[in-house]
Amino acid sequence: MENILEVKDLNISFHTFAGEVKAIRGVNFELKKGETLAIVGESGSGKSVTTKAIMRLLPPGNSEIKQGEILFEGKDLAKLTDKQMQKIRGQDISMIFQDPMTSLNPTMTVGKQIMEPLIKHQNMSKTAARERAVQLLKLVGIPKPELRIKQYPHQFSGGMRQRVVIAIALACNPKVLIADEPTTALDVTIQAQILELMKDLQKKIDTSIIFITHDLGVVANVADRVAVMYGGKIVEIGTVDEVFYNPQHPYTWGLISSMPSLDAKEEELYAIPGTPPNLLYPPKGDAFAPRNEYAMQIDLEEQPPMFKVSDTHYAATWLLHPDAPKVEPPEAVKSRMRKFMGTK
Ligand SMILES: Nc1ncnc2c1ncn2[C@@H]1O[C@H](COP(=O)(O)OP(=O)(O)OP(=O)(O)O)[C@@H](O)[C@H]1O
Ligand SMILES: [Mg+2]
Repeated sequence: MENILEVKDLNISFHTFAGEVKAIRGVNFELKKGETLAIVGESGSGKSVTTKAIMRLLPPGNSEIKQGEILFEGKDLAKLTDKQMQKIRGQDISMIFQDPMTSLNPTMTVGKQIMEPLIKHQNMSKTAARERAVQLLKLVGIPKPELRIKQYPHQFSGGMRQRVVIAIALACNPKVLIADEPTTALDVTIQAQILELMKDLQKKIDTSIIFITHDLGVVANVADRVAVMYGGKIVEIGTVDEVFYNPQHPYTWGLISSMPSLDAKEEELYAIPGTPPNLLYPPKGDAFAPRNEYAMQIDLEEQPPMFKVSDTHYAATWLLHPDAPKVEPPEAVKSRMRKFMGTK
């Protein structure tokens, strides 16, 4: 499959009073046409910064792309002028954020907010744009769209607002849609509905999606491939089946172990011990080493390369070195792997 987006050796820093925060440290991945790639990882691992860099939405004051390329259809987005980038954001790549209220304008009707980019970027007439707005609201499952386009955001419930945000993001038929935790601000039932909607849309529209989430259950549900981030790097990437049924990085094991398992009733939720690295002083070796019960001496000294597990599956852990001792994933991981196989 053809790549729509390629991120190559991306390094991003923030200049703060305390010093240089090396937030993204050599990230590589590609997004194929029509696929959904999930990015997972603990808070602070660099998921949002990576995708904001793609959208060129990093704070201009203190952020810096130190190195790397963000190739969209072969063009390096990092090198475009603001004006060129604005056009890309209006037509080719759009983003949905966590909190629908912050991405909507409270003083403008929902219809107007959907129509505006259509009139501006696609030279649509007002009548055509209104028709499209109604269509889009229907597409995202909002009842009585003809009536709803005349209403303001506060007249919508949280879940319905997020549907409006998705409709706006889809208005220009973007080639890439980035969803940064689009459901976490919503309650559980509404979360499930929005995820159903995203899955449904994925079938109906021909868009590549990057889906950021904390929740591995969501990944299994919506994604084709998954990238696991830790300390500003991708530590494992592969198809959902590869990462869930054959995880290689001890951090991925930790994430899988911390998923609630339905069969155990009163079991305490596992949490990975320790804290993420301080990216003001990134560690010399594998950033996960201090929290990794399988860490070896080399983990403290040298960063592991991405070892190849299959043509589509890679993981950055020294455990994959041919000379490393053979380590099995812990029982908690295996039991959850069995559970996935049962539910898929
Ligand atoms: N404006 C900023 N100034 C300084 N540091 C920042 C800024 N924005 C992000 N960072 C740092 O960059 C790193 C990655 O942050 P990012 O927001 O990408 O994390 P995340 O994976 O999206 O986490 P979460 O799950 O909480 O959304 C963190 O260490 C964070 O402190
Ligand atoms: Mg984030």
